[in-house]
Amino acid sequence: MIGRLNHVGVATPSIDESVKMYRDILGATHIGEKFALPEQGVHVCFVDVDNSQIELIEPYDENSPINGFLKTNPSGGQHHVCYEVDDIHVARDEMIAKGVRVLGEPRIGAHGTLIIFLHPKDMGGVLTELMERPEAAH
Ligand code: CO
Repeated sequence: MIGRLNHVGVATPSIDESVKMYRDILGATHIGEKFALPEQGVHVCFVDVDNSQIELIEPYDENSPINGFLKTNPSGGQHHVCYEVDDIHVARDEMIAKGVRVLGEPRIGAHGTLIIFLHPKDMGGVLTELMERPEAAH
């Protein structure tokens, strides 16, 4: 069912500071602009690497869903992985049928396509995002 790894989500208290690390220490050359995704409670910035992306996420406000993670991991850390799927509703139904807890309804994610999150306790401890593959890549 799962397609390619689309991105690895990394929570950070400061996208600006993280960007410096990816640019100046790791030498990343393709780093997008930071943008707000208020409905998801985060600011986002994509760091492109050769075969995937790092999705930097920073809290948007005090209600951000990643505030708890950053409380436990004050300097940030690896937060989730995201795999592409052909159809998010088919994927959701399949996950539910297999007993996996799906967190919320399909909603528009940072790439502008539908996403869902799967409970880490049903995913070997990994918060897992499924993302409908962008049209262009079908
Ligand atoms: Co993500």
